[in-house]
Amino acid sequence: MSLLETVKQRFRDEFGEDPAFIVRAPGRVNLIGEHTDYNDGFVFPMAIDRAAWIALRPREDKRVLALSLDMEDRREFALDDLPRPAEVAWIDYLIGVAWVLQERGYALRGWEGVVSGDVPIGSGLSSSAALELVTARAFHCVSGFEWNAAAMALACQRAENEWLGVKCGIMDQMISAAGVEDRALLIDCRSLETTSAPLPAGTAVIILDTGTRRGLVDSKYNERREQCEAAARHFGLTALRDINVPTFERRASELDPLTRRRARHVVTENERTLRARDAMNVADAAALGQLMIESHISLRDDFEVSSPALDAIVNCANADESCFGARMTGAGFGGCAVALVRAEGAPGFVERVRKRYIAATGNQPALYITRASQGAGQAT
Ligand code: GLA
Repeated sequence: MSLLETVKQRFRDEFGEDPAFIVRAPGRVNLIGEHTDYNDGFVFPMAIDRAAWIALRPREDKRVLALSLDMEDRREFALDDLPRPAEVAWIDYLIGVAWVLQERGYALRGWEGVVSGDVPIGSGLSSSAALELVTARAFHCVSGFEWNAAAMALACQRAENEWLGVKCGIMDQMISAAGVEDRALLIDCRSLETTSAPLPAGTAVIILDTGTRRGLVDSKYNERREQCEAAARHFGLTALRDINVPTFERRASELDPLTRRRARHVVTENERTLRARDAMNVADAAALGQLMIESHISLRDDFEVSSPALDAIVNCANADESCFGARMTGAGFGGCAVALVRAEGAPGFVERVRKRYIAATGNQPALYITRASQGAGQAT
């Protein structure tokens, strides 16, 4: 049974009628443009065919009642008395979104419904952004305010930053809000302008989950952000987005060696991301794959956010005859890599990489052939 059917059926069992709305928001995988979003730079993700779903109906009072099928947990909260989280649980994503929307002046109505999703939690495929955006979409349906993808993405990012305490950039929320079916989305993280491009014909995107999760990701992520900000400050710039590769190379020796490597990743990654757009526009899969390979090397050696498991799975993928290029994706330190492969070779690729990776590391990976899907929306 599809998730749409699952949440619909469970809603009927719980509430004795069909839901008034069924809403959905996807997870994402980033093809290229890593750790560039908080430097006002460029990212090139696609929304994936795994998503968070809510089947719901409005309530007359200002309460939200939600039943999570995945957590087997039922929670309730009042919109005019939002409880601050002591320890973050799934319901706090819904409360955080309600908080930020009300802060921004949206008049919210209550609702009740059933929540479920198939974005693996904690693997770096943005299950949190999916849950935030699907919640925003639920409030949009019952409250009747206008849906603007960029405004909703910014609101959900703020919920994540200020309510949940995670200092992420805008990429995950923006692609979950604005994804386009069968296309990847180049996002300018300063203007939030988006340009979509189709993946080269005959290619498939594979997500390679290393099966490893790392602690302390938040503190390492924040440390990278600070190093980037320090480099921008040194050059008298708002953000590293504002320096191109030749100027950076001329002035790089002014920075201490560590800050120089961090900044070099961001500056060259922005350039690679724009070149990836050009490669996609002429359907050049080989060029796109090569840029992904270079991105991984830069993340591994200059930004130092890869891990032995990520390096191993990327090497297994790149060694395969069907692969144009593979790299780690998302924040790093564990989680997933992404590969661009020949579509007809995709099932064989998955089998071979699984075997090679298990032999090399002993870890159990999960590999998904994925498709670009539409951003947050209403199913019925
Ligand atoms: C995480 C953050 C994003 C982005 C990536 C790295 O996924 O949530 O905002 O910074 O890491 O590109």
